[in-house]
Amino acid sequence: MTLLQVMADSAAGAVRLRTTDDAVIAAELAERGITFERWPLMAGLSGATPTEDILAEYADRIAELNADGRFKHIDVARIHPDESDPEWPAKAEAARTKFLDEHRHAEDEVRFFVTGRGCFYLHLGDEVLATVCTAGDLVSVPAGTLHWFDMGTRPEFVAVRFFEEEDGWVGDFTGDQISSGFPTLDQLLAG
Ligand SMILES: [Fe+2]
Repeated sequence: MTLLQVMADSAAGAVRLRTTDDAVIAAELAERGITFERWPLMAGLSGATPTEDILAEYADRIAELNADGRFKHIDVARIHPDESDPEWPAKAEAARTKFLDEHRHAEDEVRFFVTGRGCFYLHLGDEVLATVCTAGDLVSVPAGTLHWFDMGTRPEFVAVRFFEEEDGWVGDFTGDQISSGFPTLDQLLAG
């Protein structure tokens, strides 16, 4: 379930809005210049679906989004729990930690969630918008926007990623520890 929680950037406890209404979420984000769309869910897609099949299922939507051809690299990222792998907890922790601190990118961060979930925290002015994306959500975080991302303590998602340049998604970290003061993805989902 998609969720938006708007908080004051100086006080995470000051919740200004919490909603699971897709239309409200899209409107609140659009008002702040953030693209958020719901794409149709395709039956039968899972963490095991091959990349080419995922890209084929969403070919029309992807072509529409990339009508101007600005995304030169489109791929599928995936992570899912593997209890049979003794290294899984460490891999999950490493993946989660990578973008858990506030950063920005030189190009838009565009993601479409095919399955699973992840939370983008958008630091816009004096607000932090925690946006929990789930299957069917497309979000575009504009270049230069301060944000961080939490995939939770049990990361699980398949996401189509859109890149303009090979190295466009390098994180420019601000060094601000703001993210540590906000509810994690697990906490947000626990209500
Ligand atoms: Fe990012």
